[in-house]
Amino acid sequence: MITINEVVTRDGFQLEGQWIPTDEKINLINRLSEAGFHKIEVTSFVSSVHVPQLKDAAEVMKGITRNPNVTYVALVPNLKGAQRALEADVDEVNVVISASATHNLANIRQTHEQSLAGLKEIVSLFKGTRVKVNTSIATTFGCPFEGTIQPEAVCNFIENYLAAGADSISLADTTGMAHPVQVEELSRKVLEMFPNVPFTLHFHNTRGMGMANILAGIQGGITQFDAAISGIGGCPFAPGATGNVCTEDVVHMLHAMGIKTGVDLDQILSISKTLPKLIGHETPGQIIKAGKITDLHPSPLKKAESY
Ligand code: COA
Ligand code: ZN
Repeated sequence: MITINEVVTRDGFQLEGQWIPTDEKINLINRLSEAGFHKIEVTSFVSSVHVPQLKDAAEVMKGITRNPNVTYVALVPNLKGAQRALEADVDEVNVVISASATHNLANIRQTHEQSLAGLKEIVSLFKGTRVKVNTSIATTFGCPFEGTIQPEAVCNFIENYLAAGADSISLADTTGMAHPVQVEELSRKVLEMFPNVPFTLHFHNTRGMGMANILAGIQGGITQFDAAISGIGGCPFAPGATGNVCTEDVVHMLHAMGIKTGVDLDQILSISKTLPKLIGHETPGQIIKAGKITDLHPSPLKKAESY
């Protein structure tokens, strides 16, 4: 069983210029809540100046109908975001810190030391509550400013974040720089070093390697992945950022391979069809255009016979 976390309304929407009305966001999350996802990353509690699309984070969080089988997550960059998330009654916060010092400054305007100190404050804010703290390490597999990130550096970050009290870790390929060999090697390494820690992999398809990286992660032993319906998304503070791996394409591939996800493919395809109108442009997903491998066309031979 592979678990998929749906991130379209957070990572997917954060880069979208056209305003998506709050009730449309809520409707979309309510539909996703019935599609079999284990987690939904609903929104971000960030600055409305830096990410105006998600300025309605609290309204969205409060407006959705919660499915008890779904964990509702919000991204937070700092203590202020965590306080806002706590008020909005999230189930989990996703604290984002970049492995690259340059991207960390560009994205959340913090040094690594400030981020680690901030994580400790966030962990103590949620102590004694039911809220889980996940830490996402952005640019794990490469940074558009600094290039390759060494696996040893990533393992050091993981060690520090676990020591600070993080419950789980996401390794994020923010601008699609990871390749499958690197992914399989790092997956094996982190599972060997931190065997009891729940890890999630987060890929972008910027260079066409997203699906291959999912398979490489599975081969390396990871069972939890982020993905966004329609394959939209990206970090506004990373040059050239493009869409997340596309949920329906990932689910379609895994189901074809006989791997269960618990996600209802037809349901997410019908949700994905609504996205272009909502965001005002075409989306990169492929199954939505090509159809499933089981969607056969009428034979042209039979048609020819009838003439
Ligand atoms: N939510 C809302 N407002 C916030 C905030 C948060 N999490 N953190 C800070 N602010 C506010 C401050 O209260 C302050 O408001 P004021 O001017 O009315 O007093 C203002 O933002 C500036 O505060 P400062 O601490 O100087 O923040 P900053 O301008 O350095 O921005 C971040 C820091 C992290 C809030 C900002 O860089 C950000 O939102 N980044 C977005 C990161 C992101 O979403 N990336 C994509 C996902 S990986
Ligand atoms: Zn992302």
